Amino acid sequence: MGDNNITLGNLWLPFTPNKDFHQSPRVFTGADGMYFTTADGSKVLDGISSLWCVGAGHNRREINEAIYQQLQTLDYSTAFQFGNDRAFEAAHMIAALAPGDLNKVFFCTSGSEAADTAMKMALAYHRARGQGQRSVFIGRERGYHGVGFGGMSVGGIGGNRKLFGSAMLPHVDHLRFIHDPVNHAYINGELPVFAEDWLLELEQRLLPLHDPSNVAAIIVEPVAGSAGWYLPPKGYLQRLREICDKHGILLIFDEVITGFGRMGKPFAADYFGVVPDMLNFAKCVTNGVVPMGGVVCREHVHDAIMSVPTPAHVIEFSHGYTYSGHPVACAAAVATMKLLADEKLFERAAAMGPVLGNAVHAAIKGLPHVISIRALGLAAAVELSPSDKGVGARGYAVFLECLKHGVLVRSAGDNLVLAPAYVVEKAQIEQMVGVLAQAIKRVA
Ligand SMILES: Cc1ncc(COP(=O)(O)O)c(C=O)c1O
Repeated sequence: MGDNNITLGNLWLPFTPNKDFHQSPRVFTGADGMYFTTADGSKVLDGISSLWCVGAGHNRREINEAIYQQLQTLDYSTAFQFGNDRAFEAAHMIAALAPGDLNKVFFCTSGSEAADTAMKMALAYHRARGQGQRSVFIGRERGYHGVGFGGMSVGGIGGNRKLFGSAMLPHVDHLRFIHDPVNHAYINGELPVFAEDWLLELEQRLLPLHDPSNVAAIIVEPVAGSAGWYLPPKGYLQRLREICDKHGILLIFDEVITGFGRMGKPFAADYFGVVPDMLNFAKCVTNGVVPMGGVVCREHVHDAIMSVPTPAHVIEFSHGYTYSGHPVACAAAVATMKLLADEKLFERAAAMGPVLGNAVHAAIKGLPHVISIRALGLAAAVELSPSDKGVGARGYAVFLECLKHGVLVRSAGDNLVLAPAYVVEKAQIEQMVGVLAQAIKRVA
C-alpha cells in the first residue's frame, strides 16, 4: 500500500507502531463514499467511518461546497473578542439538536480539548457558586477522554498512565470498568441487565472517601468506545444522574464517539434518556472533514459562571483556543448537520445497527478465540482472547489480515471494532463481517 514516490521518513504517526508501519507502509490517497483508494491504487472498504468520524460517508459534495464557499467569504477571524456568523449558526444548530437545556456551546478543535474544557467549566462553575473546594474528578477505568493531561487523568487507559502517569492531575479517582464477560459476553442490540449494582461502590466507597462536597464532576463515555464498545448496564446512567444530583456533582458525558448519530439518535443522551450537565462532542460533527470539538452545557452551568459580578473588561471563563469556532470548521458542521437531517441519517444508523449486530453474531460467534461480541447502535466489537505474544497482538494481526482483504477494521487491544458510516449498505456490512470472520479463522 506504499508508494515509492512518497517520502515517508519525516512523519511520526500518532497511536501507531511506527517501526512496524515502515516495514509495510499503509498510505491512503483518496476516499469516496464507503471506500478509500490506497497509494498503490487498490480500494479499501472503510469499516470504521475513519475513527468514528465520517458518519455521512466520504467526499460529500454538500460539505465540500460549504467549505469552499466559506473560504471565499471569511477564511479565518480572530476567535477572541469577536464571533463569526458561521460559529453562531453552528452553535444554534447544535443547541437545537442537543437534549434538554444543553444550550450553550463552547468550541474547541478536538475531543481531547473538549475534555479539558468541560473539566475547567466544572471547576469554574463550583467556584462561582462558592464551592471552590470541589476539585475531585471521577472517571472510569478504561475510559478514554483523549490525550491532554486533564482527559488522560480522568481516563483509565493503562498505556497512557504507564508513560505519563507521574504527571497526571492529583485529585482523580475512577469508577470500576463495566463488563460481565461471564453472563453478558454476547450482547446484540440491547442493554445487559446486571444482578449486581455497579454503582454501589461509588456511593459506598468513592464518595465517602473523597467526601461528596469535594467532588466537582463525574465523566463517562455513555458507551466505552475506544476501549472496544463496552455497554452500560440497563439503568446505570440514570443512577449516575441521580447520584450526581443528590450530591451537587456535575455529570459530563463524553460523546465524542456516540454523538451525532452513532446510536441512531442525535446523542447517546437521547438514546439512554439521561441529560448530563455537559456533553463533549467532536468527530461526526463535521463529518471528520475539518477538526472540531466542543462542549455543550446546560444553562445552569453557564449562568452560574456568568452570574459572578465582574467589571466589563474581565473575562468570566478564562479559556479558549485560537481555533475555537473556526469559520471553516463551523461551515463544515452546519453543512454536516443539514446533511444528517436531510438524508435522515440518524434513522438510517438506527436501521442499519441491527443489520450489523445480527451479521456479526451470525458469522463470528463460535469462531476460534472469540470470547465476546457486543453490538449496539451502529457499532459492534468482537473480542478475542489474547495470544501468548501479549495483549493486542492477535487483534493487530486480524486488523492487518482484514486490510490485506480490502476492509479497514479497528483493533483496540484484542477487540476488533466495526463502526461504518451511516450510509453503509447491507452488502457492505456483509462484506466487512465476512472478511473479519475469515481473518479471525486465518489468524487463529
Ligand atoms: C470518547 C472520546 N473522548 C475523547 C477523544 C479524543 O479525541 P481527539 O483524538 O479528537 O482528541 C476520543 C477519541 O477517540 C474519544 O473516543
